[in-house]
Amino acid sequence: MSTATGRTLEKVRAQARDCTRCPLYKTGTQTVFGEGRVGARMLMVGEQPGDQEDIAGRPFVGPAGQLLNRALEEAGIDRDEVFVTNAVKHFKWVRAGKRRLHKKPNAAEINACRPWLEAELELVQPDLIVALGATAAQTLMGRQFRVTQQHGQVLAAPCAKGFLATIHPSAVLRTPPPDRDAAYAGLVSDLKAAVRFLK
Ligand code: URA
Repeated sequence: MSTATGRTLEKVRAQARDCTRCPLYKTGTQTVFGEGRVGARMLMVGEQPGDQEDIAGRPFVGPAGQLLNRALEEAGIDRDEVFVTNAVKHFKWVRAGKRRLHKKPNAAEINACRPWLEAELELVQPDLIVALGATAAQTLMGRQFRVTQQHGQVLAAPCAKGFLATIHPSAVLRTPPPDRDAAYAGLVSDLKAAVRFLK
C-alpha cells in the first residue's frame, strides 16, 4: 500500500535510516523503525528503543519486549499481527560505567520524530492504536493525557478507529515486588480490552 504521494513503508523506512532531524542520530547506533505489516489492525507505540533494540535495530527485543511478548500471549494477541513501533526512533542514553542508561526523550526530540510515526500510521492504517506508557500516549493524545487515569479505555483517535493506553512494560519491570504482579496484570487486562474492541 502507498499514500497519495506514492510513499510505501519500505521507502519511508529507508528515508528514516538517514534521519538527522534531531541530535540523537549521533549517539544512537541506528534508526529503529517500526516492524510489522501494512494493514495490521493494531499498532503499538512505545517510547524509544532501549540498549538492545539500538543494537538489533528492532523494537521491543530486550527485557521490556520479552515482558510485552508474554503479556500479548496471555491476552491472546499474536505479535506477528501487530505493527510495533516507538514515538522516538533513536536510543537516548547516558553512560553509567560500562552501561548505557535510558534517558527520557524531550519534547523537541519527540516532535522531530513525529513525521515518521505519522507516516507509519498513515501507511499501516490500524483500527486501534495502543500506546505503551506516558510518552507514547502524550505524543498521540496531548500532554494532558494521564495513563494512570485513562488506561484500558478505548477513546476516539485522530488517525484510527480507537486509541487505548496502558502501562509501559519497562514500568512493570521497574515496579518492585510484591506490586509488580498487579502492574503486570493491569497490562494484560488493558490488552484484553484492546482485543475486545477489535472483535
Ligand atoms: N522500550 C520502548 O519503549 N521501546 C522499545 O523498543 C524498547 C523498550
